[in-house]
Amino acid sequence: MKDVFRIEGLEGGQALRGKVRVNGAKNAVLKSMAASILFEDELVLSNVPHIEDVERVAELLSALGAKVGRNKNSYTIDTEGIGKPELDDAIARRLRASIVFSGPLLARFGRVSFPHPGGDVIGAGARPIDLFLEGFQKMGCTVLTEGDRYHIVADDGRLRGAEIFFISVSVTATETLMMAATLAKGTTFLRNAAMEPEIVALAEFLNSCGADIKGAGTPTIMIRGGGTLSSHGKVFETIPDRIETGSFLILGALAGQEVEITDCNPEHVAILTGLLRESGVDIKTTPTTIVVRANGAKFKPLHIRTHEYPGFATDLQPPIVVYLTQAAGESTVFETIFGGRLSYTEDLVRMGADITLWNSRQITIKGPTPLVGKELESPDVRAGLAFVIAATIAKGKSVIDNVYHIDRGYERIEERLRSIGVPIERVGS
Ligand code: EPU
Repeated sequence: MKDVFRIEGLEGGQALRGKVRVNGAKNAVLKSMAASILFEDELVLSNVPHIEDVERVAELLSALGAKVGRNKNSYTIDTEGIGKPELDDAIARRLRASIVFSGPLLARFGRVSFPHPGGDVIGAGARPIDLFLEGFQKMGCTVLTEGDRYHIVADDGRLRGAEIFFISVSVTATETLMMAATLAKGTTFLRNAAMEPEIVALAEFLNSCGADIKGAGTPTIMIRGGGTLSSHGKVFETIPDRIETGSFLILGALAGQEVEITDCNPEHVAILTGLLRESGVDIKTTPTTIVVRANGAKFKPLHIRTHEYPGFATDLQPPIVVYLTQAAGESTVFETIFGGRLSYTEDLVRMGADITLWNSRQITIKGPTPLVGKELESPDVRAGLAFVIAATIAKGKSVIDNVYHIDRGYERIEERLRSIGVPIERVGS
């Protein structure tokens, strides 16, 4: 059965009220699940969102031979039973994050085999993994390919520390090589590393379990390799999802009377709160909450350029575009990370937005334009949620198909949105 969302638009009304909770971050937990391979004992993860991508990663671990247990939002992972470090073809192909398993498996077993990872079609063609492969080669590995499957072997049976300079900044390559280097022989330097909060949280937890990682959150990370880690029962709590936080904030700015976003870390969305305030939105923050209130102001247009953290997150680009359709004047958005991540704007145009797509990375948005409800198909996890926001502020009914994509990243989003007044329901078709 395929689910759809039906949303009865608020027609520009500022009607939402109440509290909405942010869950643990998808892009943090997928990596901490892979990190379990670095541990000699069972690893417990808490605040894990119950989403499709987490289930896929749990299946990937089980297929490897690990024991995975779930109790509500906690997972226990015991990787002792992993036999062959070979990733299941069908599961790994469906999920970009499968690539982060390559580092821990290679570090622990001295070899790994996996298919080219899948995931959202948001880049131009297949998303490359050259930075990972070059990193592994520097760490003393030979890379062989068989069709689109990779076989990587550490020449000395164990990875060795290396100087790795990334020619471009990559979140998953930074995480994967940081984990790999944790069990390598000698010291590794990662330069031009990504600085996302999920990387810092991972490094801090690994350090608390015996790793020696310095500089996470800066462009140079130094890792002194050692033996397998032990958690001694320490629980790895998943940090709040900053993309969910930012999306709720944008929804609150557009349609909120007074919305309180709880269990979040406002520091992780500082660039967004700064820009929205500049645009006229009333936002108050505490260390773990954000309150957004309607103040009757006309929103001013913005010029957004997506950037690696702490810049403007590419994953928040679709919701901010919806916001900018309601700002008075001309806004621009330049998507610098993933060419191809603007095609969903055609559907916003069908809803009444005035958007000019200059090329695969740049758009101009003229606003404000009222939106009207339409039948939409969610193209990927982030654009899918942006459609939910657009449908909420539109006039009339929208039906969003392909909800699977939204479920990949957001746990029962319709229940949380309904609790603040979004007229949304899930219908099995
Ligand atoms: N790139 C390469 N070679 C590589 C790796 C990346 O050229 O070997 C390029 C990519 O093609 C892209 C750029 O580097 O142009 C940045 O990609 P990055 O590797 O940082 O992205 P990612 O690690 O694949 C993660 C998140 C994405 C998020 C990006 C950027 C996970 C599982 N995914 O992807 O999240 O958009 O960082 O912040 O952590 C999402 O959650 O919807 C999502 C797509």
